[in-house]
Amino acid sequence: MTRFYFDEQSVESIKGETVLDALIRHGHSVTYSCKKGACKTCLVQHVSGYLPTGAQRGLTTQLKSDAYICACLCKPTAGQKLKSIIAQNLFVSAHIHEKQYLSESVVKILVEPTEEFRHSAGQYINLRRFDGLTRSYSITNDPDSKLIELHIRRKYNGQFSDWLFNHASVGESLLIQGPWGDCCYKASYRNDTLILIGTGTGLGPVYGIARDALSQGHKGEIYLYHGARNVADLYHHNKLLKLMLEHRNMTYLACVDHMDEKAVSSTRVEVGDPFEVAMNMHKMDSQTLPDSPQRIFLCGEPSFVTKGQQLIFLNGTPLDRIHALTYDYIDLRLSPREG
Ligand code: FES
Repeated sequence: MTRFYFDEQSVESIKGETVLDALIRHGHSVTYSCKKGACKTCLVQHVSGYLPTGAQRGLTTQLKSDAYICACLCKPTAGQKLKSIIAQNLFVSAHIHEKQYLSESVVKILVEPTEEFRHSAGQYINLRRFDGLTRSYSITNDPDSKLIELHIRRKYNGQFSDWLFNHASVGESLLIQGPWGDCCYKASYRNDTLILIGTGTGLGPVYGIARDALSQGHKGEIYLYHGARNVADLYHHNKLLKLMLEHRNMTYLACVDHMDEKAVSSTRVEVGDPFEVAMNMHKMDSQTLPDSPQRIFLCGEPSFVTKGQQLIFLNGTPLDRIHALTYDYIDLRLSPREG
């Protein structure tokens, strides 16, 4: 048993627990999502006491020097003192600038921050609602826009996504935090073959990365695969066909679980797993690297991204050429938090 202090209240943790686990078990109202150090929704501030290595993993230099830690990465130490964050210190105020339904289950939200907010397609931000409820969403547009574009899938029991989908209106105030992550395009990738695979709304970031690459004059080939349940879920199909027609180095293919009869003749749509289809088209192994350096981007549900990362790596592609953005931090429960 280790005793530490949170907002000056004594908390006892049991063996193996993180600060976050102990706070949840004791009924503290804490915000969290991934419990893996990815989403940064569980930040608390360190006041005094021993700080274990790794508690600040993945934080920016500024957040580290301001003594923020991820509660999910920190093992409590005896006498350690921590306090909750003041949201205004970490978040930027913003509002919903535009809302557009892209399909029966996906809505596009354009968020306008009140101050400069540099971002890239493939990063993600935390959105915080008026009641403290916080969620992470991936960014689908490039740094040149002062608006931040997000593609939100309405989820069964998804508190935040349901609110955004059904209730939030243009002009609604939000707080935003981030951006985080580096699953993004860089100018140094200019000659690489880019293989972008997104499932569901994982299309958003890969679509943004492709547009970012094309706007920066990318020279190598770009292959984009979108995996969806059916043709109705291919919410950017026409835009992607147009993008392919406009750029000779851009190839797009949609992969669906099943094809409804009406859609049998859809252009550039195949039945199949997008990852397997891509693996058949591109070797993704070390042999192809000298002639055709490949860079692979995977965005979507964790089961798809993790499997893809492992297979590509085991095939011989170095890890620094595999970029991944998983959506596991979106689905878990969050408790609203005051402040
Ligand atoms: S970083 Fe701690 S819950 Fe996601």
